[in-house]
Amino acid sequence: MPTRTLDVTRPVMAPSMLKCDFANLMAEVRTLEAAQSQMLHWDVMDGHFVPNLSYGAMVIERVRSQTDLFFDAHLMISDPAKYLDDYVKAGCDAITFHIEAVPQPTELLQRIRAAGVKAGLALNPATPVSAVAPFVADCDLLLVMSVNPGFGGQAFMPDVLPKVTQLRQLARPEAWISIDGGIGPKTIADSAAAGAQLFVAGSSIFDQPDYAAAMRDMEARAAGPR
Ligand code: DX5
Ligand code: ZN
Repeated sequence: MPTRTLDVTRPVMAPSMLKCDFANLMAEVRTLEAAQSQMLHWDVMDGHFVPNLSYGAMVIERVRSQTDLFFDAHLMISDPAKYLDDYVKAGCDAITFHIEAVPQPTELLQRIRAAGVKAGLALNPATPVSAVAPFVADCDLLLVMSVNPGFGGQAFMPDVLPKVTQLRQLARPEAWISIDGGIGPKTIADSAAAGAQLFVAGSSIFDQPDYAAAMRDMEARAAGPR
């Protein structure tokens, strides 16, 4: 059972591996370790729940054998129940699936937690908080999408920020609120002020020459005066 956790006493950057250089995957992981990343965010897409395909458990499992970073799997797939065991076996420390894919998620959340893995529910920009509200007691993580899922590099949707605040109030105090999509120097402070602790960032890390500098800058903006 995974024992890794995150220190959320300060803002936590979650580098989205969707935007990494796949031709140099382990070099990218080593660069993120050197940049003192606590975690990797793995965007899994099935070409059905979202109109794009990425990578799956086999890739995650191979990287797991090479690093001790916290693995945060974001399953943008239509049937997470069918594939859950693969992601547990791959060594994910948190597994998040979408409420739009599984409208009655209690059993699946409990299966994830029974495996000793943190269980997360994600909601798309158009999905109201009321869709996940009945299930927050079974969630270790709530992921608010600030773009429509499927692709990196999209523009942040500020309209989702009230949902971050509502979920921070509704969720268990020890649960993490994560925001995903279009997070960068211009959007991270408002996201933190709304109540997020985890900040998924693809373009704003991987498109920069110095990942560490980009991460420190965004962490400071997230922690800074509001
Ligand atoms: C979108 C993914 C995100 C995305 C983030 O479907 O869930 O994690 O890769 O990329 P940026 O930060 O470029 O929006
Ligand atoms: Zn993601």
